[in-house]
Amino acid sequence: MKDKIEKIRENSIKEITDCKEIVTLNELKVKYLGKKGELTLVLRGMGALSPEERPIIGSLVNQVRDELESCISQKEKELEKKELLEKLKNENIDVTEPSKKVELGSLHPITQIIDEVKEIFLGMGYEIADGPEVEKAIYNFDKLNTPPDHPARDIQDTFYITDDIVLRSQTSPVQARVMEQQKPPIKIICPGAVYRSDSVDATHSPVFHQIEGLVVDKNVTMTDLKGTLEMFAKKCLGENTRIRFRPHHFPFTEPSAEADVSCFVCGGKGCKVCKQEGWIELLGCGMVHPNVLKNCGIDPEIYSGFAFGFGVERIAMAKFGIEDMRLLFENDVRFLKQF
Ligand code: DAH
Repeated sequence: MKDKIEKIRENSIKEITDCKEIVTLNELKVKYLGKKGELTLVLRGMGALSPEERPIIGSLVNQVRDELESCISQKEKELEKKELLEKLKNENIDVTEPSKKVELGSLHPITQIIDEVKEIFLGMGYEIADGPEVEKAIYNFDKLNTPPDHPARDIQDTFYITDDIVLRSQTSPVQARVMEQQKPPIKIICPGAVYRSDSVDATHSPVFHQIEGLVVDKNVTMTDLKGTLEMFAKKCLGENTRIRFRPHHFPFTEPSAEADVSCFVCGGKGCKVCKQEGWIELLGCGMVHPNVLKNCGIDPEIYSGFAFGFGVERIAMAKFGIEDMRLLFENDVRFLKQF
């Protein structure tokens, strides 16, 4: 037995010392020390030995194993070093070759406007609210005082997913969601995408963005609404911007209005941007309809509120001088780079 072990020792050490590659070294490791390795098999066969021989042979095998292990790890280091040196010698790095260019992107014009509007309203103490784009029809319409037979629910104008689930056609449903979850005072804006079944042209797209605003508290009046919008218009479109209200109808506000701003390009004289009108239509707004407050669990005898909603694309187009809305959605880098 001793001779056999000595033979294994001699052979293995010779093979390891002569070995020239890591792969071969790994094979040798398995050949001698692996589960079915030669030395391991010797250990397994020890049951056949006499009790006196067992400890002697056992310690001999352990000794040889230790020796092999240290021999292998020494060789391993030696070979790794050799391979690295060879690699460095053969690898040629041309430091004069131009490097890969990292293209830096920029914020999309729509994102820029949304960020700017958020900043303005955060500065006035508003919070940012969020709601789902795939919305229950009950939030998109019913709770906003728009019953099932109302023309605004016309299936032609909206993308229905089932009879009672739609891609929201406005950000106004977030009003209802917030009112159900929060007690007044409420002061929120909600930016987000909305969907309508419009054909694409220079001023229409089936997906666009709106920003909704809602304030509910005691003693909120229409003057608060007008003052807030005027402040917003001045901060967003320039200090000299004026605002005017025109009567309008929305199911969820009473009274309702559309607000125009004096043209921030010509100051009201008339130009291409305002189509010679001097005014640019900006948004829809009004005092929250008592039915809407009631539908959302708020007592209209105690609280009142105002709301408004506007399209982000329209502001982006006017502010950046973009004439075709399609450019905002085509994601042509040559266009987007300009902002
Ligand atoms: N949701 C309306 C629309 O898409 C805009 C709007 C009008 C929002 C009046 C409001 C509002 O909050 O009070 O045309």
